[in-house]
Amino acid sequence: MAHEDDALEHERASWKPSSGLAVAVSDPVHNPGLPPHRARVTDQDPAAMKRAVRTVYTLFYLSAAASIWAVAAYMIFPIESGRIVDIRANNLFIGLGIGLALLAIGIGAIHWSKAIMSDKEYIEPRHATRGRDETRAAAVQVFVDANEESGFGRRVMIRNSLIAAVVASVIPGITLFRGLAPQNTPSNPHAGDPVFLLSRTMWKEGSRLARDPEGTPLRAADVTLGSAVHVIPEELAGLSHEDGYLEEKAKAIVLLMRLLPEQLVETEERKDWSYDGIVAYSKVCTHVGCPVALYEQQTHHLLCPCHQSQFDVTRGAAVIFGPAARPLPQLPITVDAEGYLVARSDFTEPVGPSFWERR
Ligand code: FES
Repeated sequence: MAHEDDALEHERASWKPSSGLAVAVSDPVHNPGLPPHRARVTDQDPAAMKRAVRTVYTLFYLSAAASIWAVAAYMIFPIESGRIVDIRANNLFIGLGIGLALLAIGIGAIHWSKAIMSDKEYIEPRHATRGRDETRAAAVQVFVDANEESGFGRRVMIRNSLIAAVVASVIPGITLFRGLAPQNTPSNPHAGDPVFLLSRTMWKEGSRLARDPEGTPLRAADVTLGSAVHVIPEELAGLSHEDGYLEEKAKAIVLLMRLLPEQLVETEERKDWSYDGIVAYSKVCTHVGCPVALYEQQTHHLLCPCHQSQFDVTRGAAVIFGPAARPLPQLPITVDAEGYLVARSDFTEPVGPSFWERR
């Protein structure tokens, strides 16, 4: 053991770095220096510089025009009309306008910096950071130099067109917020009244409950114990997109479930709203309107996947968990002479998010 320790000690004492390592320590980083500066076409040719300036301000003005076009498209194709062709054109042209506006600003800015601004190379040695007066003065000088070299103050056309493009680029965003609060119009006097709109759906007395999306009417015998069926009014299946199919469906969609009649805890007022253990509830979550699509057969709970609100089907779809503030509206149902499930009336309260009612 003592022999081994001595040998190790001897090895350490006699170790010398290899010649390669010795070189690396004395010259740790080889400075490659800067490649020779290559002047750009715009540095050598005043005509090319003029062309570049023209290109940049044309792009900025193009951006401003595209933003204005997006706003115009919003007005020319009003989504309030409810026509699918207007909604498609509205989305298409607003998207194209905003996309072109941002693209033109981006390309203009890149071209400005690559072809017009100074492209001198700098070597900036590192110094300790000290907040001295000289440092502050140097920082100010950097901005002065940048302004001088970019030509922001001098090149009036570029500066003004950039300001126009940036200011115009936010206008479509501001305008689009208007779409979140539709206004009443003579042709659509309730467009701005969500409580009115959500209080009326296509359900009416005698509307047959039909499978979504086929539109096949359902008999009570078709709904097996423990099942959950997505249902729409039979009349809805005949509606075209132009006639507002999606808007009506978004309000009228219903989930139909069959339990044992004795499992239902029904208030006196709702005793005849179910049929032989079959109950129908709005599928639109009362939190912020996601589709409540998950039915847990064992617990009889409906689950909204957006924020995990849970509703108890056995007790009038009461909220048992999550942020929803009220139960899912129940559709009163019965059967007609041929055994088909039909609605007794429309919903008796607004469907969907409940915050509208808190005005
Ligand atoms: S939308 Fe259903 S829980 Fe939020």
